[in-house]
Amino acid sequence: MAAILFVCLGNICRSPTAEAVFRKRARDAGLDLRIESAGTGGWHRGEPPDPRARSAGETRGYNFEGQEARRVESNDFAVFDLVLAMDQRNFRDLQAVCPADSLEKINLFLDFAPHLTVSEVPDPYYGGTGGFDHVLDLVEAASDGLIAKLKHQPNKG
Ligand code: 4NP
Repeated sequence: MAAILFVCLGNICRSPTAEAVFRKRARDAGLDLRIESAGTGGWHRGEPPDPRARSAGETRGYNFEGQEARRVESNDFAVFDLVLAMDQRNFRDLQAVCPADSLEKINLFLDFAPHLTVSEVPDPYYGGTGGFDHVLDLVEAASDGLIAKLKHQPNKG
């Protein structure tokens, strides 16, 4: 079974959204995957997803039950096949703590949606509620791109 870790800064807005969206869409696509999320920072450890992220996601039918923020740990680079960063800062922070032989596991999540004009999922934490819908739009597009790729690599699904 392939294992995928979504990573943002706080693990309360973007990566929990990616986890919820990807879990539903992968399941709907018939993929059996291990899916988790984590943050490069640990300030929100143990907290549930931000209520604004949860509300925006639940409106679109995604389930955030059981999610609890945690920090990326060194073992993640052994356990997960793909470690997907929401923005360039997350990408660089992950590279800085990743063993050399696992560096290729780290990708920008939006690399799986090359048709988009942006390459980063912007941090919605300090913005208005519209930011959370924008996060969902980007995450849904990249989820579908990644799922299409995984379906063409049966050993990874
Ligand atoms: P996230 O958003 O990285 O998408 O979870 C943030 C959440 C909290 C903070 C920053 C970004 N913070 O500084 O506490």
